[in-house]
Amino acid sequence: MTRAAAAMLVFALLAGCEREERHFRAERENTGPNASALRQSLNQPGVALGGPVKPPGDNTSMYDDNAYAVGEGRRLYRWYNCGGCHANGGGNIGPALMDSEWRYGSDPASLYQSIVQGRPNGMPSYGGHVPDDQVWKIVAYVRAMGGGVRADVAPSRGDSLYPGKPENVRSPQPAIEKGESKAEQALEVR
Ligand code: HEC
Repeated sequence: MTRAAAAMLVFALLAGCEREERHFRAERENTGPNASALRQSLNQPGVALGGPVKPPGDNTSMYDDNAYAVGEGRRLYRWYNCGGCHANGGGNIGPALMDSEWRYGSDPASLYQSIVQGRPNGMPSYGGHVPDDQVWKIVAYVRAMGGGVRADVAPSRGDSLYPGKPENVRSPQPAIEKGESKAEQALEVR
C-alpha cells in the first residue's frame, strides 16, 4: 500500500467515525431560555390562554348582521387553518361547512361549541387558544359559508384564488341536523 493510500484510508476512517456518531444528550449552548428573546407572534395555538373552556352564553350570533365581523371571520378561518381540514367550506378531512348537512347543529351555539369544545371524531378544541370574540366572528363566517347571513353582510369575491362562488351570492342552505334524512326534511317543508 502506498503512503497516499494509507493516509486516505485513515482519513476515511476518521471521517466515517464522525458520520456515525450519535449524540444522545446533546446540550445545545445556543437554546437556553433568554429573557430578551421576545415572542414575535401572539398567535400560539399550542399554548392555551388559560381559564376554563366556556359554553356559549345564548343562542344568538351577535355578528350575523355585521359585514366587518364576517370578513374578519373569513380571515381568521384562514389564519387558524380551519381550511386545512374543511377546505374552503366544501370539506376534506373534516365535513363540509357550506352544505345543508350538520352533525352537531348549525345554530350559533352549536357552532360555537364545535369550535371551542371540539368534537370527538377529529375536530380540535380551540377553547383557551382563540379569544372568544374571534370565535364568534368565525361562527358568523361559517354561517355565511352556507348562505346563512344577508347578502349585503356576506363577503364578496376575495383577492385570493377561490374556486367557488363568493359567499354573498350563495343561496341559503336549509339545515339538515344529524339523524334527519333529506326525505324527512322534504316532508317537513310540505
Ligand atoms: C385537524 C383537522 C381540523 C381542523 C384544523 C378543524 N376542523 Fe373542524 N372538524 C374536523 C373534523 C374531523 C370534524 C368532524 C368531527 C366529528 O364528527 O365528531 C369537524 C367538525 C367541525 C364542525 C361541526 C360540523 C357539523 O357537521 O356539525 C364545525 C362547525 C367545524 N369543524 C368548524 C371548524 C372551524 C371553524 C375550524 C377552525 C377554527 C376547524 N373546524 C378546524 C376537523 C378539523
